[in-house]
This record gives sequence, structure tokens and C-alpha cells, in this order.
Amino acid sequence: MGVPCHVGIIMDGNGRWAKKRLLPRLAGHRAGMQRMLALVEHAFLCGIKNITVFALSCENLSRPQSELDGLFDLFREYFSTQMENLAQKGIRLRVIGDRALIPSDIADLIGAGEARTAAGDKATLAIAIGYGGRQDIVAACNRAVREQREMTVESFSETLSTGGMPALDLLIRTGDEKRISNFLLFEAAYAELIFSAKMFPDFTDQDFDEALKDYSARDRRFGRIRRQSD
Ligand code: FPP
Repeated sequence: MGVPCHVGIIMDGNGRWAKKRLLPRLAGHRAGMQRMLALVEHAFLCGIKNITVFALSCENLSRPQSELDGLFDLFREYFSTQMENLAQKGIRLRVIGDRALIPSDIADLIGAGEARTAAGDKATLAIAIGYGGRQDIVAACNRAVREQREMTVESFSETLSTGGMPALDLLIRTGDEKRISNFLLFEAAYAELIFSAKMFPDFTDQDFDEALKDYSARDRRFGRIRRQSD
């Protein structure tokens, strides 16, 4: 099996990374953002065409306002400095999630970033912010009801916020937890799952390569039986 078409990453463990170093939680998120920048670049160089990273869930929005404000500042920094870089590399940005849940100036920066990178045809980077898999499924159902459309699995996939992206092949979660936490629930139906004990800022490019190696050794049967020749 070759490289996965679509990799999702749950970037967990920033807070514990910081705590271990007696640093404020926000230092962990900043280290996480820096790791994300380099890791995404590395993943695209590995030939991955679609990456979705989980930056903020709907449920994370109940965290203390001071932590949210710090995360929002990181998003402002990212969306105002990195769009040209993505555009130059032919990477299209998509941000999935409910923009009504985040400050409007960030929603504006996101809109500008998506417009600036819209012509990117080499790869897609989706960032989930104010996102929940269940909420996304319910929104897609409501849309179908409003439009009085009967759905197939394929048309429903297209109605989700990841519409146009392939189903998830590989889901990596760092932070030593083994759960999906409301990330890409529909899209991950047949994803291979890899859980790393490392905190996200410590998850290296080599760890990512190991995950790809593990993925490529797996027997993905999608509910079918093993090939006769095996
Ligand atoms: C989960 O770790 C991580 C988050 C809720 C935030 C992830 C955000 C980043 C990596 C920055 C991304 C930046 C951009 C621009 C997309 P946690 O805080 O739950 O860690 P813990 O479980 O150790 O407390």
C-alpha cells in the first residue's frame, strides 16, 4: 500500500508538554503550532495530498477564556503570516468548523487565506477550528432535509464540511490517549488509527515516517475478506 491520500492529526498533549517543563499551557500551544508548521510541510513532501489537523473542537470552546484568547492569538498569527507560503507551494487552505463560534476578525483572516490559496492544486490543508464531527453530521442532515434531498453515502460525504476531500485513510493521535474525540467521525469510518504516546510538540518528522510505515504494512480490507493470493 502506498502513502495515504488523506491523513488526519489530533494534536493532543500541548498542555502536558508545557506542564512538564513548568511552562504556561500557552507555551505548549505555541510549541504545538511550530511543530504543526514543520510537520505539515514534511507530510506534503512525503506525497500526502490531503491533511486535516484538529486545532480546536467545539468542546474546547468551554476552556478558560485566557487559554482561548491565547489560542486565538496563535490563529491570528498563523493566518496572517503563512498564507503566502501555502499559496507559493500550491497548497489550498480549507478551514472546517463553525466560524460563528470564533472571533469575527479571525473568520475574516480565514476567508482571505482561503481566497488567496484557492488556486492551489498540489495539496489541501484543512484546519479544524470550532469543529465537531457530530455537529458537522447534524448540519449536513439539516441541509439535506431543507433541500428535501435523499442521501447516499457519497452525496452525504460531499455535504460534510470536508466535501471534495477523500475519506480519511490514516488518523494519528498524539498525547497518549486512545479516542477520536469528535474528529471526522463520518470520514474516519475505515481510517487506520495510530496512537502515539508522545505529546504533540515532541512528535517528530521521523515519528510521522514511522506512522506511514506502520500504515503501509496494514491489510485494509474495508469489510471484505483477504485476497485469495494471500
Ligand atoms: C490539545 O492539547 C490541543 C489543542 C486544544 C490545541 C491545538 C492547537 C495547536 C497545536 C496550535 C495550532 C495552531 C494553528 C494555527 C492551527 P491539550 O491542550 O488538550 O493538551 P493536554 O491534553 O496535554 O492538556
